[in-house]
Amino acid sequence: MSAFAPPPGTADIFPAESGSWRFLESTAAKVFTACGYGELRTPIFEYTEIFQRGLGGETEVVQKEMYTFEDRGGRSLTLRPEGTAGVMRALTNTDVANGNEQRVFYCGPMFRGERPSAGRRRQFHQIGVENVGRCAPLIDAECIAMLHNYLQTIGITGAVFTINTRGVAADREPAEKVLREYFAEHIDRMCPDCRTRLERNIWRILDCKQECCQQIINSAPSYIDSFSDSSKAYFEEVKKALTALEVPFKVSSRLVRGLDYYVHTVFEVTHDALGEQIAIAGGGRYELFLPGEKRPLPGVGFATGVERLLMAREALNAPVPEAGRADCFFIGLGAEARMKNLISANTLRKAGKNIALELEERSFKAQMRAANRSMAPYTVIRGESELANGIAIVKKMDDGTQCEVSENDLTDYLVKNI
Ligand code: HAM
Repeated sequence: MSAFAPPPGTADIFPAESGSWRFLESTAAKVFTACGYGELRTPIFEYTEIFQRGLGGETEVVQKEMYTFEDRGGRSLTLRPEGTAGVMRALTNTDVANGNEQRVFYCGPMFRGERPSAGRRRQFHQIGVENVGRCAPLIDAECIAMLHNYLQTIGITGAVFTINTRGVAADREPAEKVLREYFAEHIDRMCPDCRTRLERNIWRILDCKQECCQQIINSAPSYIDSFSDSSKAYFEEVKKALTALEVPFKVSSRLVRGLDYYVHTVFEVTHDALGEQIAIAGGGRYELFLPGEKRPLPGVGFATGVERLLMAREALNAPVPEAGRADCFFIGLGAEARMKNLISANTLRKAGKNIALELEERSFKAQMRAANRSMAPYTVIRGESELANGIAIVKKMDDGTQCEVSENDLTDYLVKNI
């Protein structure tokens, strides 16, 4: 590894790739705006308690993965491991607390101290949405359908949507009883982590990936039968709406998600290209307590992992948006020509043209090579004789044809023709 590599689990994003990033972000903005969402930008770090309380103190993210540090006054701060808790904190300052709906989306870096591997980063990027203030099965379905639409629009076909219900707080105790009785009988054959989970957080057993636990988990009784009728009806309504919206999905009672704030609908999206362990998006309905509020605020949302969307797009051979290519390359021989080139480039750039040029003293041959490398379809050449004659040469690079344009007409000519 080079001494100048970025820290493990982080990456530099070079111009050749950033076209794809911008495409994913701008398409998200378009698709989400059409559903009434506006962009919200929150700080990259928050007070630690925002995540502890929001995500749940027992979750893997809070227990093991947060980057936490103290500010000079001794207050504990944390680099955001996800977007939802910060968004909810920000919304305290809006009319959402009075029962109004807020639809927001966000794009940006998140930080989790995970062991880096393919598709698992310590600094990764999410594009996410939160629809806060309302609770209805049709809102959940609308949100999932928007994600489906987004994936289709960015060329990710064949994504697998898995959904489940977590019920509400009152459903948990009877369901936990059913699960605890069952797993207690088989716990001797399960992994050490599951033995701890039996007491501490039985739900986590359901998404254990250890081989020895798989068959036992697959044969577990359906805890959803013990949920209240209204929770079951809520889930039925979500499924009915997704079918009506033509979003293909499968149901798995093993899908519990890693954050504690979820109620009712939860979902995750995978793609065969990345395998079942690497979700490209996840989300669900949640209830979060805003600082100082006694009642929790309802919301539904999701986040996609940008690095993972790019991996899926690459596996599907989706077209890579072109990195910004120059419209024209200016070659100048002599100090006066270079100065004129700089002035022309400035004027044309203000007119919206993408201009590349050589401003250092270099041979004609070297500048021509740079012009070819830039792939610009036109080259403008100013040498001493052109300056003396008050003209510039405009060369079309694909067929090599060229014409002389007077200095006075050059800007207008280029604005119209390149
Ligand atoms: P999450 O499932 O923890 O949910 O993360 C959402 C997505 O972020 C994942 O599906 C994955 O694509 C990406 N992701 C997570 N961790 C990493 C990582 N270490 N490296 C690369 N990509 C990663 C949440 O964060 C919730 N806040 C989603 C949500 C919004 N729920 C309701 N509203």
